[in-house]
Amino acid sequence: MNIILLGPPGAGKGTQARILVAERGMIQLSTGDMLRAARSSGSEMGKRVAAIMDAGELVTDEIVIGLIEEQLEAHPEGGFIFDGFPRTLGQADALGALLEKHGMKLDAVIEMRVDDDALVERITARSTCATCGEVYNDITKPIPADGKCAVCGGTEFKRRADDNEESLRTRLMEYYKKTSPLIGYYYAKGDLRTVNGLGEIDEVAAEIAKVLDSSA
Ligand code: AP5
Repeated sequence: MNIILLGPPGAGKGTQARILVAERGMIQLSTGDMLRAARSSGSEMGKRVAAIMDAGELVTDEIVIGLIEEQLEAHPEGGFIFDGFPRTLGQADALGALLEKHGMKLDAVIEMRVDDDALVERITARSTCATCGEVYNDITKPIPADGKCAVCGGTEFKRRADDNEESLRTRLMEYYKKTSPLIGYYYAKGDLRTVNGLGEIDEVAAEIAKVLDSSA
């Protein structure tokens, strides 16, 4: 089964993708994580995208489509969660063509709907484990009191350079201008399912599980 998690920055895509990886053995393809890894590795591409990401703008379609194609080739068995991809109509068309080329199909596009006010609160309170990437939130999912990651026991946590109010405003504008048209695109294709992303993490996970079980 291959699915897209679609939603604005802070909707909870990464949080839910990690649950699906743990519970269903799916493969999370987060273009944001791939781009951050390229930056940390100091690659030429990583250097090119750093300033664009920190400002909250989208990197070029060509770069992210290339990253996704590599992963499709590396995992011919499929079972993907596309997290933060596609983000433009061009990326959506390219994904459709790539899946077809690899003999795969899209089973569902899950739109996670969340109020803008909640997004700002979530993003500015986010941190992640530097070792395993588990996502925390100062308010809704604090780092355990012993200072150790609940998943891997790591003790180092980081905040993203683009998790500030100014970059977030740009990220939201990019979402509304370039990514939100995908809601209509996938609705017209008959693939769109919408969940309420405002519930507790477990409640959202249960709604997503219901969608997946009914699409299987
Ligand atoms: P990316 O890393 O994809 O960031 P994003 O889309 O802005 O999404 P986030 O990771 O910020 O949010 P999320 O929905 O995963 O929320 P999370 O689960 O962490 O992209 C970063 C940048 O890379 C882009 O700006 C762009 O420059 C570039 N890029 C990436 N992909 C690209 C593409 N395809 N094309 C072009 N450029 C691309 O949750 C957020 C917080 O909320 C956490 O603290 C979490 O604990 C908390 N939380 C989650 N769920 C709940 C809940 N139900 N209730 C309460 N709190 C919750």
